[in-house]
Amino acid sequence: VRRYGYALSTTSVGDGAAIDPGLYREVMGHYPTGVAVVTALDSGGPVGMVVGTFSAVSLDPPLVAFMPTLKSGTYARLSSSSAYCINVLAHDQLGLCRKMATPRDDKFDEVTWTKSPLGAPALTDAVAHVHCVVHSILGAGDHLIVLCTVTGMEVVRPVTPLLFFQGGYGGFSPRGMTAKGDASIIAAIHLADPARPYIEKLAAQWGCETAVLVAVGDDEMTTAASAYGGDATMRNRLGDRIPLIPPMGEAYFAGQSPEAVDRWLSSTSSLDPGAIDRYRDRVRAIREGGAAIAMIAPGGEQAYRQFHDALHEYTSTELTPARERALRQAIEDASWLLHGDLSDDHLYDVGSVSVPVHNPEGDVSMVLRMAQLPPRADRSRVEQWIDALQTAARRVERDLDSPTGSTQLGAYRDWYMAEIPR
Ligand SMILES: Cc1cc2nc3c(=O)[nH]c(=O)nc-3n(C[C@H](O)[C@H](O)[C@H](O)COP(=O)(O)O)c2cc1C
Repeated sequence: VRRYGYALSTTSVGDGAAIDPGLYREVMGHYPTGVAVVTALDSGGPVGMVVGTFSAVSLDPPLVAFMPTLKSGTYARLSSSSAYCINVLAHDQLGLCRKMATPRDDKFDEVTWTKSPLGAPALTDAVAHVHCVVHSILGAGDHLIVLCTVTGMEVVRPVTPLLFFQGGYGGFSPRGMTAKGDASIIAAIHLADPARPYIEKLAAQWGCETAVLVAVGDDEMTTAASAYGGDATMRNRLGDRIPLIPPMGEAYFAGQSPEAVDRWLSSTSSLDPGAIDRYRDRVRAIREGGAAIAMIAPGGEQAYRQFHDALHEYTSTELTPARERALRQAIEDASWLLHGDLSDDHLYDVGSVSVPVHNPEGDVSMVLRMAQLPPRADRSRVEQWIDALQTAARRVERDLDSPTGSTQLGAYRDWYMAEIPR
């Protein structure tokens, strides 16, 4: 048995009878569970019990199970019913969980629920409801295994569930966002400092939104500063995350090594074999031209809005893996929005213009972006925007080369090397 640097309970292995209850709890505590509330309605009103033992059992026929202790007073009441609603709790329902796990009579006070098709209390805002009737009950040591036949089920709120692990509650984080918490945002915001006066001026001058995006790993950037001029509305909050899923991040990767570009391209889920080559060509063109332009194709305003909605939702930390996959797809599907060359006889709806800011060593950790630009711009206007943004980027590069700038860059890099998994 491998020993770790904290106190473990007494015995390690042995035959069934010799297992110490503390060891049993400790070892089983290393296995996380979800948290569900089994409910029923009896003559005394609604009854509910928190279980960590709710489990899928059989698909054909559809069976689920939960395992109450023989000592449970609440199960004694539940057992007078044979129709249950099993409510999967969400990450934000810890208060409800605590209430339901405490033996008392007023558990349902201030709890909102509706009657399920089987007449059991279906808790509002649960992640899912599983409606079931008792199939059979098996004795299992000091517990029972209550097998139930599923008669109906639905996902009510597709958010991340509440989890129970090693005696404590927690949530599920699909991307291990904890490693990129406040520290990353603060380092990024400091790095963006030198750019702030320039983007404020640009926003006022062109009546648009401007932002400084800073890399937090090879897979995300964060909004580290933003400014608004004219009619532009606040769309980016500090710390908003931008997933670097091709084509997102092309201005950033235009300043990165070929290996980093390859890693970025390999994260695409596009099945179109030509897509990777097109992205690679775009990165090359941006490297040569010094700017990435996102155009909204004629009639594409709605798709552009959907793309923005997907990005916005992505910044929520409570995404389920399924939702994250759907959003990544929505973001990738917008690749048709991106065009390259400008011609004289066209008017353009420009979604955004992005320009990389090079560090003194030549690599890139931040990008300046203009968005919410006036529609129907001709070529010379678009070129003016690019020019203004590039001028600002050159000034930021100069400031990054100053003593203050290099201190900020150094602090950002120290954090980056320490925090970002390689
Ligand atoms: C996260 C969590 C998981 C639980 N899982 C179970 C379980 O699977 N089976 C069980 O009998 N009790 C379980 N309990 C305990 C009961 O929810 C509850 O505390 C107990 O039933 C209250 O006592 P009573 O039933 O005598 O009223 C769990 C409690 C918590 C907080």
